Amino acid sequence: MLLKLHDFSHSVWGPLFATMVQNFWLTCVCFLLFAYFMLKLGKLFFTPLEMERKLHEIGYLSDGRRSLKDIANEIQKRRKCGDIPPVYPNGWFHVLASRELAVGDVKYISVLGEQLAVFRGTNGVAYIVNAYCPHLGANLGIGGQVVGNCIQCPFHGWVYRGEDGKCVKIPYSEKIPDFAQTKAWPCIEKNSTIYIWYHAEGIEPTWTPDDIEEIENGTWTYRGYTQHTINAHIEEIPENGSDISHLDHLHSSPIISGSDLRYSFSNWWQFAKHNWFAKWNPLDDEKHVGCLKLSHTISVLGYVIPFTALHMTARQTGPGLVFMKWSCVFGDGIFLHSVTPKEPLLQCMRHSLYASWTVPTIVAKILLYGEAMQVERDIMIWNHKTFVSKPLLVKEDRLINKHRRWYSQFFSENSPRLLMKKETLDW
Ligand code: FES
Ligand SMILES: [Fe+2]
Repeated sequence: MLLKLHDFSHSVWGPLFATMVQNFWLTCVCFLLFAYFMLKLGKLFFTPLEMERKLHEIGYLSDGRRSLKDIANEIQKRRKCGDIPPVYPNGWFHVLASRELAVGDVKYISVLGEQLAVFRGTNGVAYIVNAYCPHLGANLGIGGQVVGNCIQCPFHGWVYRGEDGKCVKIPYSEKIPDFAQTKAWPCIEKNSTIYIWYHAEGIEPTWTPDDIEEIENGTWTYRGYTQHTINAHIEEIPENGSDISHLDHLHSSPIISGSDLRYSFSNWWQFAKHNWFAKWNPLDDEKHVGCLKLSHTISVLGYVIPFTALHMTARQTGPGLVFMKWSCVFGDGIFLHSVTPKEPLLQCMRHSLYASWTVPTIVAKILLYGEAMQVERDIMIWNHKTFVSKPLLVKEDRLINKHRRWYSQFFSENSPRLLMKKETLDW
């Protein structure tokens, strides 16, 4: 033992150890820095990417005087929105990710021009009801309590059943009138997502969102999400999938060139490019589905880098959901893409990523971030463009018209339209 201690004190570690003991505080600081560094590294490599971008953060240019928020606000008011279709199409829409609503949770959300309370009953089922209590108008989503599979209003304590919105208890009244009921919305939970059915004619669901078995059985696991707020009509976003010609122009320069279109077209980035091959078609046997086949590679100085190949089959399912299954050299997975209108011209867009265990989380994060960078280029366009109802198209653009005909099935007689906006800011 003595010999071992003697050996240690004469090795290189001996003096270092002695210095560390003498400099207790220095040792503590080094240890904390090391722990912090390891924590950051662990986070980078092993935790999902979760990124939310607000409206003013993408595509609005600073004038050095006003805040980007003010600029976004003014452009929103000034912009000519064009001859737009109705603003809320019929179909299923993403409301929340399942993990965002625990048993007993109540959330107030505002989508599709409706004010809603979403809650999860003690049976684990998610319910959506109108937020405003029919008694005196309190908001069930703000301070409402889950009682069994019902929600209790915070004002006078009336209790509504999640399943059908029926009032089942009035704490101070013996009798519950038959008409005491709020609206319960069709709601479905699958693919770790809570969806709502919206139909302007009050028609019950005629189809359901795709079942992604690999998410349900855990073959593909959650790797993160990105969320963007966009100032555009909802149709602009899915239409992008059929607009094949813009891929080689807008999405060609490498993602390191960023999403600010003032710089991403610079000649500096010409040494590398994204290559795209895409095809879009509506399906004959599932009327509500359009299918986009997409292949992607990156080439540097004209040489295609083989491991950057990514093949995708995207099912546009209804007006606001796209199931984008992909495979690459690391494995396979899916982007769950959704667009939900918050206001007539304000969309909440999400991409959630699930991937097989063979895809390292850091690779999945790069994919998700790369997708966000590319889509932010579109957002810079969408946030400023007008909707052209009769576009000037050439033969190569014909899929755009095909897509518009397909999308028109999601509007019906009573689909809400935007009342004509004032075209100037003059009083
Ligand atoms: S307002 Fe809801 S119970 Fe009275
Ligand atoms: Fe695009």
